[in-house]
Amino acid sequence: MARLTLVSSIILLLCCAAAAAAATTFEDSNPIRMVPDGLREFQSSVLSVLGETRHALSFARFAYKHGKKYETVEEMKLRFSIFKENLDLIRSTNKKKLSYRLGVNEFADLTWQEFQKHRLGAAQNCSATLKGNHKLTDVVLPETKDWREEGIVSPVKNQGSCGSCWTFSTTGALEAAYHQAFGKGISLSEQQLVDCAGAFNNFGCNGGLPSQAFEYIKYNGGLDTEEAYPYTGKNGVCKFSSENVGVKVFDSVNITLGAEDELKHAVGLVRPVSVAFEVVNTFRLYKDGVFTSDTCGSTPMDVNHAVLAVGYGVENGVPYWLIKNSWGADWGLNGYFKMELGKNMCGVATCASYPVVA
Ligand SMILES: *[C@@H]1O[C@H](CO)[C@@H](O)[C@H](O)[C@H]1NC(C)=O
Ligand SMILES: *[C@@H]1O[C@H](CO)[C@@H](O)[C@H](O)[C@H]1NC(C)=O
Repeated sequence: MARLTLVSSIILLLCCAAAAAAATTFEDSNPIRMVPDGLREFQSSVLSVLGETRHALSFARFAYKHGKKYETVEEMKLRFSIFKENLDLIRSTNKKKLSYRLGVNEFADLTWQEFQKHRLGAAQNCSATLKGNHKLTDVVLPETKDWREEGIVSPVKNQGSCGSCWTFSTTGALEAAYHQAFGKGISLSEQQLVDCAGAFNNFGCNGGLPSQAFEYIKYNGGLDTEEAYPYTGKNGVCKFSSENVGVKVFDSVNITLGAEDELKHAVGLVRPVSVAFEVVNTFRLYKDGVFTSDTCGSTPMDVNHAVLAVGYGVENGVPYWLIKNSWGADWGLNGYFKMELGKNMCGVATCASYPVVA
């Protein structure tokens, strides 16, 4: 019991240390003393519980880096055993020399079931986009595309533990469309969509679809700014105010279900496009490279995550979509990932649409 109290108080302290270390000025001004001391203390507290093994050391570093706080020794032991399983998954996957690599990230102490429950929305039925309205033209597509280079893609956000990916996909698309139309950046409210868009077949933290969110905003007369209607990551009562509208939606364009050529045409020539796909267990531990999977289905019923396609390219001979996620800027490639293009991989072209704001 005495040991337990000691461990939790050290961990509490350590969370503060980790938070301080995250502020770069602090870290920079105390490069030797503050950071390694905190880490060393944290490590020895973790190792005293888990034993001095290599895995326990990686776990201690992981927990420190991500500011993890485990309330009891039992909880720490449980998280450590899950971490080891994920480590095995990462190692066995990377050994296969696929076009992508997995790595330890903030989700490495969660089981797949926990992750699904807290991060992913319920699977959505995307059949409504069976007949799209994007018009193909003869214009030659650029070989590669990255809308970030045009400066219209807003910074990566973090949905936290709420299945609100669809709201971030929606604001990401609208923020880019707004910047493209009006020549300046804007940050828009996800929370308004969580709280207010239920009549359009959306379910707040339990999932929804960007195409249905665009319909809601069009009907509603606008979407408030992030500042006026900030994100809480919980279902709440609608507090929309027409005085704080940041953007209006005049129309939305749906990509025909599964038509990757239409999607490429839209991403290459028009602007970033909201897409949805099926997240499988390995995906949450994505580190870099072009993600592919032979287990993620492409039926319209499997789609459980919405994101924003901001470009495409080819890496080591594998064509990919460049996609902005909403799991923070530390996840994957600075918050982005690459997904194989040309096979409707994980259903990436199942449920795509983009808004018209001017
Ligand atoms: C999915 O949506 C389509 C069109 O809205 C509908 O016809 C179909 O029955 C739905 N499928 C399921 C399994 O709900
Ligand atoms: C696009 O899809 C949404 C639902 O996902 C639907 O409500 C809307 O009518 C569609 N738009 C067009 C132009 O077909």
